[in-house]
Amino acid sequence: MDFISKDISEYSSQHTSKAGDLLEKIDRETNLNVLRPRMLSGHMQGRILSMISHMIKPRAVLEIGTYTGYSALCLAEGLAEDGRLITLDINEELEPLVSKYFQESVYSDRLEYLVGNALDLIPSLNRKFDLVFIDADKTNYYKYYELVIDKMTTGGFIIADNILWSGKVVSKPKAGDKDTKALIEFNQKIHEDPRVENVLLPVRDGLMILRVL
Ligand SMILES: C[S@@+](CC[C@H](N)C(=O)[O-])C[C@H]1O[C@@H](n2cnc3c(N)ncnc32)[C@H](O)[C@@H]1O
Repeated sequence: MDFISKDISEYSSQHTSKAGDLLEKIDRETNLNVLRPRMLSGHMQGRILSMISHMIKPRAVLEIGTYTGYSALCLAEGLAEDGRLITLDINEELEPLVSKYFQESVYSDRLEYLVGNALDLIPSLNRKFDLVFIDADKTNYYKYYELVIDKMTTGGFIIADNILWSGKVVSKPKAGDKDTKALIEFNQKIHEDPRVENVLLPVRDGLMILRVL
């Protein structure tokens, strides 16, 4: 969902750098052939992730929720020269497609793609991250945060997607659906957490940006 008008959205997209050919192909093919294509970050959010990554020049990025690899490749654009990106997804069915896209990428030798449950995989990652993108199942957002917070460099950034959940965090706070409930709890807990500073950007479906203190 967009929280700004269609005209402003289109104008913003038209005045934002294009994504590269591979990203455009992934976007197109995901929309044609893959279930739930709305999960893909898309042009504007992808360019925002790329820009943030360029600002940070991370040496180690962790993405939780690869889907078809679009956001991973956007985040990879800003990696430091010796930087690496690890991306995790539980969906085995997408593995051949995602591996193919990653092989086609100029960042292929800097990407590590692990298939499995992020809750099991994250504890086995023995390294520090300076940028983490949380974009998997909403009910586990806070667990992912707790699993990664001690693996962050001081001054590192965590970005969490879909934090406004199509506005339901405001319009349906008592509706009781588990995703909305989990996101409301996540937003409140991290907002009160002295380990981080946070800003909620109402971009696309809401991006929470955290700076680790
Ligand atoms: C919103 S999509 C990710 C979109 C992608 N980051 C992008 O912007 O193009 C969420 C992904 O999280 C994955 N996922 C859900 N639960 C998971 C889990 N427990 N561990 C790892 N991945 C999970 C799903 O399989 C799905 O591909």
